[in-house]
Amino acid sequence: RKTVKTVLTEGASHAGEIVDVKGWVRTRRGNKNVQFVALNDGSTINNLQIVFDLSKFSDDDLKAITTGSSIHVQGELVASQGAGQSVEVQARELEVYGTAPGDYPLQKKGHTLEFLREKAHLRPRTNTFGAVLRIRHALAYAIHKFFNDKGFYYFHTPLITASDCEGAGAQFQVTTLPLNDLPKDEAGNIDYSQDFFGKLASLTVSGQLEGELGATALGLIYTFGPTFRAENSNTPRHLSEFWMIEPEMAFYEIADNMDLAEEFIKYCITYALEHCADDIKFLNDHFDKELIDRLKFVVENDFVRLPYTEGVKILEESGKKFEFPVYWGVDLASEHERYLVEEHFKKPVILTDYPKEIKAFYMKLNDDGKTVRAMDVLFPKIGEIIGGSQREENYEKLQKRIEELGLTGMDWYMDTRKYGTVPHSGFGLGFERLVLFVTGMQNIRDVIPFPRYPKNCEF
Ligand code: 4AD
Ligand code: MG
Repeated sequence: RKTVKTVLTEGASHAGEIVDVKGWVRTRRGNKNVQFVALNDGSTINNLQIVFDLSKFSDDDLKAITTGSSIHVQGELVASQGAGQSVEVQARELEVYGTAPGDYPLQKKGHTLEFLREKAHLRPRTNTFGAVLRIRHALAYAIHKFFNDKGFYYFHTPLITASDCEGAGAQFQVTTLPLNDLPKDEAGNIDYSQDFFGKLASLTVSGQLEGELGATALGLIYTFGPTFRAENSNTPRHLSEFWMIEPEMAFYEIADNMDLAEEFIKYCITYALEHCADDIKFLNDHFDKELIDRLKFVVENDFVRLPYTEGVKILEESGKKFEFPVYWGVDLASEHERYLVEEHFKKPVILTDYPKEIKAFYMKLNDDGKTVRAMDVLFPKIGEIIGGSQREENYEKLQKRIEELGLTGMDWYMDTRKYGTVPHSGFGLGFERLVLFVTGMQNIRDVIPFPRYPKNCEF
């Protein structure tokens, strides 16, 4: 059996061969002499045309072949007269695996993305989601290839954790305590010592802290796994469960970190342009006419590198009315980030050296005592796509910050600074934000097969 993709790629050079193809019917049309079926098996955005000569097949044979039904066809590969396809299959044998009754929700007519979100269990079968999911796969593969080729080790960090990496209090708790009868200690607080792990455990918001243990042992590591955030953010760029890639590099300073981030993201986009050309073109033509141009532009141009303080100055002097006010010290909102990227520089921007108050405890303090060596990569249409930093490697300074913030249970982490500490850096790329950018989709809920967001956890 050949996939539709193989048959179409081999094309007319294989004309005359007898082929077996299996897939799902997208459409059937024709007249009383000949019927044409568009067959898709998920291997490509393109359909294979199957021709049924009605002198060999009866109406009865064909009536089971409706949109959504699954079939096996054996037939002869012939050069096609039809526009946009090199070959078609003249059917000789037909086997119907499964019919699809008339209430099949994905009939021929185009559906809105909102409608398809309600049919999340079936939407991978549509052209749009097929394209998105194949691109998602290619990007995941490119990420592993990029790091492997550079000598990074794929390091697995736990999903269940006892620490809060970002300190934002957005963790989902993991507990087996009875919710209707929680054990309490003498002070009336929940007694987690009776819980499954003997302490409060949560789903991870980031693998970074454990990643630092990896980098201070193996040198260059990256993680690539699911992360969870219980933020009540109903935006087109937030998910409660998303995948993150977190490289962590011993002996890297902030400039090395920025170079790697820029090279990495350009590599992924280039890989998709080269390996997913049909799918990207489909999305470009149907949803976002500037998609391909935008992807090429990002790959071909240097990212701007700019300290936060200068970014704030540009925003203050822009004369633009923002919904949220801008001043030094503010955690920039997506409208601010997008102004810098889309209106001011018209290029991706790496913003650096943020005020320490709005960044996580582990970032390296600059000599000014006010800012830290953070770097956020800001993208058109997306806003923040990467967040990273050089880490504080000095034991005393880090200990002071941990005490200021009242963090506890960090001895294991402090050992990276106590024993053979080194300058090191890393960053986190939100995988779905990358997929969002490369597909040109508008909503992050449409670039993951089964999105999780507030008030939504179907199946
Ligand atoms: O900026 P964040 O919170 O950084 C960290 O978690 C660091 N520990 C990373 C590191 O230095 N190793 O998250 C990193 C990226 C963001 O830039 C964004 O792309 C993505 O993760 N992200 C989300 N994506 C989808 N939904 C959410 N709720 C996200 N929160 C963050
Ligand atoms: Mg961030």
